Amino acid sequence: MDIRKVIIAPSLLSADFARLGEEIEAVEAAGADWLHVDVMDGHFVPNITIGPGVVKAVKKHSAKPLDVHLMIADPRTYAPRFIEAGADILTFHIEADFNPGCVIDGIRTAAEEAGREVQVGLVLNPDTPPSSIGEVIDLVDLVMVMSVYPGFGGQPFIERATRKVEEILQMRPDLLIEIDGGINAENIEIPASRGVQVFVAGTAVFGADDYARSISVLRQKAETALGGGTYIV
Ligand code: DX5
Ligand code: ZN
Repeated sequence: MDIRKVIIAPSLLSADFARLGEEIEAVEAAGADWLHVDVMDGHFVPNITIGPGVVKAVKKHSAKPLDVHLMIADPRTYAPRFIEAGADILTFHIEADFNPGCVIDGIRTAAEEAGREVQVGLVLNPDTPPSSIGEVIDLVDLVMVMSVYPGFGGQPFIERATRKVEEILQMRPDLLIEIDGGINAENIEIPASRGVQVFVAGTAVFGADDYARSISVLRQKAETALGGGTYIV
């Protein structure tokens, strides 16, 4: 993978759920690189969204990698179900399990059994320090930094959460860093200049009249800022 390539991942949470198939087609035609799928269980976060059944249905409609973000209290039990359902990238929260290595091993085993290539990632809430992933950072393919408190789309971007990006990259310079929450054309340069390459955008894409224009503006701003940033590979 080209380490400097910008990846824009529209979040289906902001799509029209009654027209999910059409929304997926529209956003893929508009240039989405990944599709971000927010899974919430009403325990880890105060909201309930979708489960493996919907992920399976989305997978049938989608040609792009499915980036499944587990905001659930028990990723160890449920992560394998999302692999079976079609997740290509599967992320879970470091705050959700005291034995994250065990969750990662379970995901790798499930992927192997299913004969699927799956990228595994850890997610950090805005107030969770990079040191929390120190013991397991070598076991994953990507790390996602939350720039809102998880649970809902449409919240304001928390800029201070992006400060940890450089520290994470110091721990592992080859890591793919993703950011999730409140990203729009006005602020995308902040995380990009710190070395973030994957940008989740819900409201900024699905709230726009022209999905293609919105994605292309986000991409262009991120590319410029990432290129001019300090992230040297
Ligand atoms: C928040 C979710 C995000 C959210 C992003 O808990 O993880 O993926 O949908 O939506 P916006 O871009 O509107 O913040
Ligand atoms: Zn998300």
